[in-house]
Amino acid sequence: MQNQKDMKKFYITTPIYYVNDIPHIGHAYTTVAADILARFNRQIGNKVFFLTGTDEHGQKVEKAAIKSGLSPKDHADKFVVNFKNLWQLLNISNDAFIRTTDNDHIKIVSDILQQLYNKGEIVLRKYSGWYCTPDERFWTEKEIKGGLCPDCNRPVERIEEENYFFLMSKYKTHLIEYINSNPNFILPQTRRNEVLGFLNNNELGDLCISRPKKRLAWGIPLPFDPEFTTYVWFDALLNYYSAAIYLSPIKEVNEDIWWPTDHHLIGKDILTTHSVYWPTMLMALDLPLPLNIFAHGWWTVQGKKMSKSVGNVVDPFKITEKYGADAFRYFMMREVPFGLDGDFSENALIGRINSDLANDLGNLVSRSLAMTKKYFNSIVPEPHGIDIEIKTLAEGILLRLDNELSTLSFNKALDVIWELVTFLNKYIDTKQPWTLAATPDKHDELCNVIYSLIEGLRFLSLYLYPFMPQSSGALYRAITNNSDISKVDIMEVTTWGQTHRVTVLDLPNLFPRIDNKAKTEKTEKSRNVAVNNVKINNTETNLNMTDLIDIKDFAKIKLKTGKVLSAERVEGSEKLVKLQVDTGEQRQIVAGIGKHYTPEELVGKTIIVVANLKPAKLMGQTSEGMLLAASDDNGLSVITVDRPSNTGLNVK
Ligand code: MSP
Repeated sequence: MQNQKDMKKFYITTPIYYVNDIPHIGHAYTTVAADILARFNRQIGNKVFFLTGTDEHGQKVEKAAIKSGLSPKDHADKFVVNFKNLWQLLNISNDAFIRTTDNDHIKIVSDILQQLYNKGEIVLRKYSGWYCTPDERFWTEKEIKGGLCPDCNRPVERIEEENYFFLMSKYKTHLIEYINSNPNFILPQTRRNEVLGFLNNNELGDLCISRPKKRLAWGIPLPFDPEFTTYVWFDALLNYYSAAIYLSPIKEVNEDIWWPTDHHLIGKDILTTHSVYWPTMLMALDLPLPLNIFAHGWWTVQGKKMSKSVGNVVDPFKITEKYGADAFRYFMMREVPFGLDGDFSENALIGRINSDLANDLGNLVSRSLAMTKKYFNSIVPEPHGIDIEIKTLAEGILLRLDNELSTLSFNKALDVIWELVTFLNKYIDTKQPWTLAATPDKHDELCNVIYSLIEGLRFLSLYLYPFMPQSSGALYRAITNNSDISKVDIMEVTTWGQTHRVTVLDLPNLFPRIDNKAKTEKTEKSRNVAVNNVKINNTETNLNMTDLIDIKDFAKIKLKTGKVLSAERVEGSEKLVKLQVDTGEQRQIVAGIGKHYTPEELVGKTIIVVANLKPAKLMGQTSEGMLLAASDDNGLSVITVDRPSNTGLNVK
């Protein structure tokens, strides 16, 4: 991490996305990852240029335009809006958005083509190969399988035509040397090995960078031969360089302060174009190579590739609208290490929201704010000493975060932040502020605990900001009264003890729990079960007739009143509490209510117990029954009796 005076530039890009279709989760994934790095780098004081955009030339787009009955440019104008809208919805903080149909980009690509042609790096050659007309591309002898296109399995034909070639092959040795001497150039390591293996074991041909205009008109004409159109990848890769010139967010300085990029984030399928075509193009142009190309994994659904025909494409708009941008961002980054493939499911997303965001983080925030309000009228008290353990943990996270993010280990970075979340939750449980509040001579200690909680939350909001900008911004505002977290220099504010008698604001529940109704609805729909709509209390509830039970079924459940004789936490678990309950006979019940009740609060209550449940073991502890409780977004409430009652009574 740099000192303010060593502030450096940080240039990060996503691939530019084809406008032949609407965005999917793969597009959202790379762009959110880039956004996190951009936001973090701005936080630590670097000058950031975060670029994304759209790839608008070539066959894919031309074909899609023909299908939609529009000109390619009109089609691109229409589809680019989807990407821009999604980035807004996901709170993407890109500094620029490039479209390859921008006049400035076209001009720079033409100039570069002319320059390379003049230098003899591009030459005209007769080319013969196997051509697949539906795919509109050539294959080599080796690639075709029994006279069929390896991509679509349709017959290929032998074609001979003239085309322009970039003399890529002559850079092969230089490229291998470069990759060998720059271990971080291609990451993760497995991808680097893949590229080296490919280069070492195959002949590297020259790159055909033109298409005859009669076969493909939608593209940049070659400046030295307008009968040809530029191959879309040659045009697209140059976006990273052209944007640094004409879309620089800092206009007043020297135009090439950004080059080379610090990170090109890409998906694993476009590794060859980025790690072979692109660096050799830059070598021919005598330009420095990018510092890092990071190829992330792919999202699948139930282990299968997403595809329109299968109908399993994850729509990032729907997910974001349903669960919120922050939850979706968090899930993508927490669930899977960035270089590996991951499987997407709404259940897994709901699981993360409920456990990590609602239970861990959300509860911590709401409990801390509620106690500040209850015990100190919302004004954070001054502490009477510093809790060194929390201070050390909280302050130490910044450097660890920096380390994890510099290797794009987003999930590990979140693990590091979660150490503080877990610590603070445990801190509440062990310090028991409600007990301190009930003991007048413990007032100083109560001040310390509440102070540490709010100060801890301040650190958390700053660390979480790159990942979840919306909710961390709201939290930061509530506990500091500072309205713009994006402007805060994190190096200046991550020393312990900067909260002084702030009045904390009420905050709506940041991450409400999601009940699994959505899940149930989905399962029911996919099973195509007949559903009856039943109106209960004016709320429309979907009840499947097979879900209704008759009185005989209900009678199978033996419910009894039971008095809690004693209660203690199960060691090593935040959630489990072990109760000794008198239900006519003494029995042990282990319940997952530790985040909502202290053991002390439970003793003496008369609760309702499912008495004929098969005994189960929870974290090595036998549970002989289950207590009843109701829960919603705001917490959980154990069901008790309305009047003093004997133990062991039947509940019907
Ligand atoms: N236009 C080219 C990129 C040119 S960059 C100079 C392109 N566009 S794309 O729209 O087809 O794909 C963009 C990105 O989406 C790629 O990085 C690709 O890896 C990624 N993904 C496509 N499907 C994906 C998943 N199922 N999961 C994760 N990312 C995936 O290629």
